[in-house]
Amino acid sequence: MSRYAGACFGAHAIVLNHFRLEIAMRLVVVATLIIAAAGVRAETPADFQARFSAQAKQENPAFTGFSADQGQRWYARTQGREWSCASCHARNPAATGQHAATGKLLAPLAPAANPERFTRSDKVEKWFKRNCNDVLGRPCTAQEKGDVLAYLLTVR
Ligand code: HEC
Repeated sequence: MSRYAGACFGAHAIVLNHFRLEIAMRLVVVATLIIAAAGVRAETPADFQARFSAQAKQENPAFTGFSADQGQRWYARTQGREWSCASCHARNPAATGQHAATGKLLAPLAPAANPERFTRSDKVEKWFKRNCNDVLGRPCTAQEKGDVLAYLLTVR
């Protein structure tokens, strides 16, 4: 009888373990879906500004905040190369721009004029990387990104 009970317990434990494993696997699937959904979640310009601010503090312990004035000057001037941001995105970022090389029209960069701007981190990262390289010949610092975004947010 006791042997039978032991076997029964054993079988029970296996079924329980299997059950737990299945729950664990389901949790992993659900967690993955949640993380994937968060990755494509629409963001706001304020989310980007908070991220640039955290990065700027890491890059420079003396960081004191972003300057829209600084961002405005930086946006409009060339930086040792042929183009400024304004060369493609228009001098007034609330206006339609035109690509300096291809002539393609670009929707306004200022979020007030184009609500799609600064809502997708894949786009923002891709284009900061490419555009900063074209204008500066290097990646932008978090300070530069935050300053220019602060400026773009003042443009109505
Ligand atoms: C040679 C042309 C060119 C220059 C110069 C340029 N850009 Fe762009 N930029 C583009 C194009 C093309 C896109 C992608 C098409 C679009 O989104 O309108 C883009 C997209 C972006 C985006 C994506 C925003 C979003 O959320 O959709 C950002 C941010 C950006 N540019 C910032 C800058 C900044 C800052 C500068 C100056 C350092 C700059 N760009 C200079 C051509 C340019």
